[in-house]
Amino acid sequence: MLSRDKPALSRTAGRDAAHIDVGATGRIAHLEARGVAIDYAKPGSKEVTTAVEQCDLSLERGDFVCLVGPSGCGKTTLLNAVAGFVELAEGDLELDGRPIPGPGPDRAMVFQHANLLPWRTVQANVSYGLELTKKVKKPAAKQRADELLELVGLAGVGQQYPAQLSGGMQARVNLARALAVEPEILLLDEPFAAIDAQTREVLQVELLRVCAARDVTALFVTHDITEAAFLADRVCVFSPRPGRIVKEITVPWPRPRSHEIRRTREFSQLRDEIADVLYGAKAGAGEGTR
Ligand SMILES: Nc1ncnc2c1ncn2[C@@H]1O[C@H](COP(=O)(O)OP(=O)(O)OP(=O)(O)O)[C@@H](O)[C@H]1O
Ligand SMILES: [Mg+2]
Repeated sequence: MLSRDKPALSRTAGRDAAHIDVGATGRIAHLEARGVAIDYAKPGSKEVTTAVEQCDLSLERGDFVCLVGPSGCGKTTLLNAVAGFVELAEGDLELDGRPIPGPGPDRAMVFQHANLLPWRTVQANVSYGLELTKKVKKPAAKQRADELLELVGLAGVGQQYPAQLSGGMQARVNLARALAVEPEILLLDEPFAAIDAQTREVLQVELLRVCAARDVTALFVTHDITEAAFLADRVCVFSPRPGRIVKEITVPWPRPRSHEIRRTREFSQLRDEIADVLYGAKAGAGEGTR
């Protein structure tokens, strides 16, 4: 376990890569954060900004967990840590009982802006990551891209260029691109935030279908409470920075789900419950600068 008393020299310092921690329950979670803290250095100062603190989270294989919380509370930072892009100041972050060793193809990020390569066709955008791994030959990569485009409802657009697509179509390509390397965990950072409400609802249903079809585990950040309630098995509500999970709310309905669920009284009640925790947590805001 990393502790601030023993600063890490590297991402895995202080942790034994061969060691598998089965935790108190004796079960190994697929993804587990225990007491995670993440600091950012302040430029030109010895002070640090603590983005995340005392963060505990546990996902089983196939779980869909949404993270909601005030702006700046550390949601993206936590995703980046799971992706292996940022170091921990404290705590443990493990995949299948082993410390996260850095970035890897077993985890794929999906960002808010698709940022597709404009000079490559849609098919070539989706196959790009796969080609980089050099694990498959180009024709096989193209074939896999076409299969994924079909999976996300974009069959037949592979030879078009990103500029010829709508925002919703680009979001689908973004998802297909992330799935191309066959990740076990999808890390989605407000992937539909820039999409109009109607298309977003369609994309949410599609995402649940795609996750079920590919059997991926998803960690999804959103500011949209309705989106979180619709997508997740569990909604984790963050405190203001330094972010920690103040409540984990279980969503009772099996996935995949259909649009109708949004119109039920139970769904409204669940949304209210999430909002109460979120705005209650905001009201208790603290300062996270050391
Ligand atoms: N690279 C960085 N260097 C220094 N501070 C950073 C860096 N990235 C994020 N921070 C700070 O860490 C805190 C958490 O940022 P983060 O982006 O994780 O928040 P967030 O919950 O994703 O916010 P939002 O909902 O607005 O996207 C913020 O105070 C932010 O200013
Ligand atoms: Mg963010």
